[in-house]
Amino acid sequence: MDIQLSIHGRQDLAGQLYRQLRAAIVEGRLAGGARLPSTRDLAEQLGVSRKTTLEVFERLQGEGFLLSRTGLGTFVADGLQRAPAASPDFGFVSSASFGPAPNAFWAGIPDMLSMPARQIRPKFDFLGGVTDKKRFPFDIWRRCINHALRMQARDRGDYKDPGGDQSLRLAIARYVSFNRAVNCNWTDVIVTQGAQQALDLLARVLLSPGDAVAVEEPGYPPAHTAFAAAGARILSVPVDSQGIDTSQLPGNAKLTYVTPSHQFPLGIPMTIERRVALLEWAGRHQSVIVEDDYDGEFRFTGRPLESLASLDQKGLVAYVGTFSKTLFPELRIGYVIAPPSLRGALLKAKQTVDWHSCTLTQMALARFMLEGHFARHLRRVHKAYAERRDTLIAHLSGPLSPGSMFYRLRPASI
Ligand SMILES: Cc1ncc(COP(=O)(O)O)c(C=O)c1O
Repeated sequence: MDIQLSIHGRQDLAGQLYRQLRAAIVEGRLAGGARLPSTRDLAEQLGVSRKTTLEVFERLQGEGFLLSRTGLGTFVADGLQRAPAASPDFGFVSSASFGPAPNAFWAGIPDMLSMPARQIRPKFDFLGGVTDKKRFPFDIWRRCINHALRMQARDRGDYKDPGGDQSLRLAIARYVSFNRAVNCNWTDVIVTQGAQQALDLLARVLLSPGDAVAVEEPGYPPAHTAFAAAGARILSVPVDSQGIDTSQLPGNAKLTYVTPSHQFPLGIPMTIERRVALLEWAGRHQSVIVEDDYDGEFRFTGRPLESLASLDQKGLVAYVGTFSKTLFPELRIGYVIAPPSLRGALLKAKQTVDWHSCTLTQMALARFMLEGHFARHLRRVHKAYAERRDTLIAHLSGPLSPGSMFYRLRPASI
């Protein structure tokens, strides 16, 4: 047998031997028909017990990799070698340029996490979408997770409601009714994997290939990708100091995506005049408005603005929220509160994509909210972010302003 087998340490000897023999067969280093040494000889050769080699041979026989011929020995089964890779340069490791080709659409989509801004960890990080996790009460969260775990252990193992955990939907409904003036009850809330999945589900149920979608310019590219992936044509509408320019909205837009509380990326809120104009326009053109209220909680100057959905009398607005900015993005919990006519389809889309979001984090978050920890955390981070903002503004108009001596002397070290 021309195959190198080696055993490292004394842990999982059978597992080590099994994996090496199996890999040698699949990779063709042990050809079909090759005769293996006896279990006794192999055990001696490797310094393991005969029980170990027997156990491995039996497992490989059971899986069809080896055949035992009485009186003759143990042989490698035929036809198990994996087809060689298309390019000898790449061996068995699959490469991006060989193998089945994905739909051409995905070639144009940037890989967000490998973007240069995400690779660098500067001392002063102004990267958007990052929350201060040091302020998150992980001890309380641990208790909520433990409680959810106990509940989960008692529950029967089964799929759950695609709309989400009932207590979380209730907590979200209370929160958005009170804080964002969105008129809803718990059955109106569908829990999603972040705002991104809410946008993807809306795209799935609303759009057909070729449909037009109006988006803000500048805007939020991941939302555009979700719409484009459903085959939509993305039509950019300029944003000015009042928000999206409603006079330039295309009459054929099936869906209009906006960030009225805090325009992404410019940060301005949409004025009340524009909100009214947008709703009036959407009613006339039968366009569904997707309101992405991704960080509406954080308003640092002036009166808090209510959501666009709170002005909607005709059921035109699908309201999308997320915990990515108030808690942290890795949680992957968001929600959509859509007009009743879309709800059934959204639930079926959610069920089709992933059945439902992880129940453990949903139950933990429900407890975190219903016990008042979320509201307390929000007050704390709001205050801390406001202080940071004040400091930044003071520096941008002081020592860091283009006219200041400090700016001229040390621009590279900032
Ligand atoms: C405009 C906008 N919407 C939504 C999100 C958050 O999405 P998710 O809830 O999927 O993390 C972000 C995050 O930066 C955003 O900027």
